[in-house]
Amino acid sequence: MIEISWAYKKHSVGNDKLDEQHKMLLNLINQLFVQSSVLVNPEHDKGYGFILDALMKYVDGHLAYEESLLEQIGYADLDNHKIAHQKFLDKVQSLSLESADEGLKKDLVHFLMNWWENHIMTEDMKYKPFVEALSN
Ligand SMILES: [Fe+2]
Ligand SMILES: [Fe+2]
Repeated sequence: MIEISWAYKKHSVGNDKLDEQHKMLLNLINQLFVQSSVLVNPEHDKGYGFILDALMKYVDGHLAYEESLLEQIGYADLDNHKIAHQKFLDKVQSLSLESADEGLKKDLVHFLMNWWENHIMTEDMKYKPFVEALSN
C-alpha cells in the first residue's frame, strides 16, 4: 500500500469546496498511514490517536456538508448516499474499537484509503453533474 495522491482528472467532483474537503481528508488519511507505518513506541501511538480523532471530526463535518448540499439541490439519490456514509461510519467505528494492536491499526488505515478512493470515484462522482451545474 502506498500513499494516494489527489489527481484533478480522476478525483474532482466538480465543486471547489467539496474537492478541498476531499483533499483534506486524504491528507489526514495519508498522515495516519505514515503514523501506522512507524508504530514502534507509545509516542507514535499517541500521534496515531491524535490524527485519527482529527480525521473522524473532519469526516463528520464533510459528510454533513456534502449531504446538506445534496439536499439543497434536490439530489434524487440522496437516501442511498446517506446510507453509504452511515455504513462507512459504522465500519470505522467497529474497526477503531478493535484496533488495539498494530496490525489492526493498519487494517483501519487500509480501509480508509480504499474507502476514500472508492467512495469518491463511485458514489460521489454520481452527483458531479448536479454540483457542477451549480458553479456555472
Ligand atoms: Fe459522499
Ligand atoms: Fe465526499
